[in-house]
Amino acid sequence: MTKNNSLKEDNKVFSPNTQVIESANIKDWDKEIHKGKDIEKYWSMEAEQLDWFKKWDTILDTSEEPFYKWFVGGKINLAYNAVDRWIETGKRNKIAILYANELGDEIKLSYFELYREVNKMANALLNLGIKKGDSVSLYLPMCPELVITMLACTKIGAIHSAIYSGLSSSAVAERVNNIESKVVVTADGTYRRGKVIPLKPIVDEAIEDCPTVENVVVVNHTGKYDGDEELKENEILYDKFLEGVEDSCEAENTDAEDPLFVLYTSGSTGKPKGVLHTTGGYMVGIATTLRNIFDIHDDDLWWSTADAGWITGHSYTIYAPLLLGSTTLIFEGAPDYPDPGIWWKVIEKYGVTKFYTAPTAVRHLMRYGDEYIGKYNLDSIKVLGSVGEPINYEAWKWMYDKIGNGKAPIMDTWWQTETGMHMISPLPVAGLKPGSATKPLPGVHVAVVDEEGDPVGVGKRGYLTIAKPWPSMLRGLFNDDKRYKEEYWNTFPGLFKTGDMAKIDDDGYVWIQGRSDDVLKISGHRIGAVEVEEAFNSHPAVNETAVIGKEDPVKGQIIKSFLILNEGYDLDKPYEEGDEFPLLNTLKLHVRHTLGPVAVLGETVSVDSLPKTKSGKIMRRILKAKEEGEDLGDTSTLDDL
Ligand code: WT7
Repeated sequence: MTKNNSLKEDNKVFSPNTQVIESANIKDWDKEIHKGKDIEKYWSMEAEQLDWFKKWDTILDTSEEPFYKWFVGGKINLAYNAVDRWIETGKRNKIAILYANELGDEIKLSYFELYREVNKMANALLNLGIKKGDSVSLYLPMCPELVITMLACTKIGAIHSAIYSGLSSSAVAERVNNIESKVVVTADGTYRRGKVIPLKPIVDEAIEDCPTVENVVVVNHTGKYDGDEELKENEILYDKFLEGVEDSCEAENTDAEDPLFVLYTSGSTGKPKGVLHTTGGYMVGIATTLRNIFDIHDDDLWWSTADAGWITGHSYTIYAPLLLGSTTLIFEGAPDYPDPGIWWKVIEKYGVTKFYTAPTAVRHLMRYGDEYIGKYNLDSIKVLGSVGEPINYEAWKWMYDKIGNGKAPIMDTWWQTETGMHMISPLPVAGLKPGSATKPLPGVHVAVVDEEGDPVGVGKRGYLTIAKPWPSMLRGLFNDDKRYKEEYWNTFPGLFKTGDMAKIDDDGYVWIQGRSDDVLKISGHRIGAVEVEEAFNSHPAVNETAVIGKEDPVKGQIIKSFLILNEGYDLDKPYEEGDEFPLLNTLKLHVRHTLGPVAVLGETVSVDSLPKTKSGKIMRRILKAKEEGEDLGDTSTLDDL
């Protein structure tokens, strides 16, 4: 995305307006960054803002590097901090969760109501025999029960694994089996563009291959079930599961380093990585960053459009706002249904003050010009946020002018599933350069390095690494210490490899330059090139595949696939006699079935050969450079072009 990252309008730096500065929790950006030089002092000071059952003995334990530990000896519970502690305060009847959907339905849950629901679900899970350290897999749409179930797990010390509801049954099976869940919580379906997309059948298909699953809890979200006649013996409707269950539950005395959740994400091999986050440090990291970056105050209405199936959903749609005692809006549906004004309508209706979304959505909605956004009053917006991929100037400017009325600064937050929290981002008082995520946050230290791990210097492109541990860092890959070290720590000893490229300019501003590995970003979603290749290759008509991310003006990247077909096949002709569609469509369906609707195929072509190294590895880099009309770089190891 290098091309888009250039500064426009004479390198204009956008300064915050005085109103933003007046209300800001952190008024002096440089001073705060200075404070963050001493990471232990900085993060332990922030940790004081949470309610610990027992304070930590050691702030940071580096003895088993790279298996860092934070707040060692501390006891703290997430649900207790996110819900219970607000019951005792004036926030008892404040709205915690505001659910809205494309049908115009809304559900409001006060902190007290949320407290009771979480307690009931926690007790119901305990009654089922789920105990501390066990895992619960979730395959749910954005609905209150999803938030309740996640919190219920944390309340009893169970590890949750939320699986994005756009993934396929084989992806569900792979994740459930990796973490060996005994329980899966799902729903009948989800609302999407005027339709109900069934979810339960996907879980049904998945768990045929999941020997550990003993029970399935089903939320009757779209009202498919009249009673539970259609369910199997080990399946129960959510409401029935909670019937008559105690609504008080003591929070588990969890250790700061007890596992909190696992979230699977794509890497450069076909096997997803189970990113493990633990309790205390994670909470400290996300609460601090949300408060400082989005300047959260008691009267805010926070809306992050991210689904809870991704890290943004975990950290910033759900947990951080609740840890700050805020109100968080969760929305189920597409950004353009019933029409492309739905998001603006929601902002106006509820008076959203802080709005966090992805560049791909902005680019999609800006295509409609003023037609929809012009109808609504978005004056309530005070701070905006962008996440998931670099934001190009045009999208930044549209967001700034149209969503923020030229007065709300845009927090371009760079981070990852692995980092748990924002890492590079402005604070609201910062001067903004569109396309740059500005500087590492206070308490975060990055280094842009060359192949040898040495800093590249100002203005030079290099590998983005994190130079010091941070509290919400992943603690490993679930049950795979070897892969954890290989993926993140072995390339540049002592530095955490992010997989991104970056440049740092004269002012210390960081410019993200896209990925250095074979991970694609399609509409902000992360997907491995290898996953798509393997999905194609599992079809009998395909011999070999190479997949790259091709630049796209709306989606950031699209999937471009180069296929070598087996003898006798043609993309334009049916796969088998009598097929209504050409092979291309059959393959698209096959990949979609294998990976789920997230795998939206862009361009698919058939080729006679693929560029390979002498040892037979496909050189995707060459295909990408050719596609983008760039210099082919070093081709000395190339066997066949
Ligand atoms: C990758 C992480 C972070 C939560 C959502 C995605 C890219 C993320 C930005 C940004 C440029 C960004 C990076 C990163 N990315 N935010 N503000 N500017 N690139 O989490 O799925 O783990 O993906 O998203 O490439 O490595 P994720």
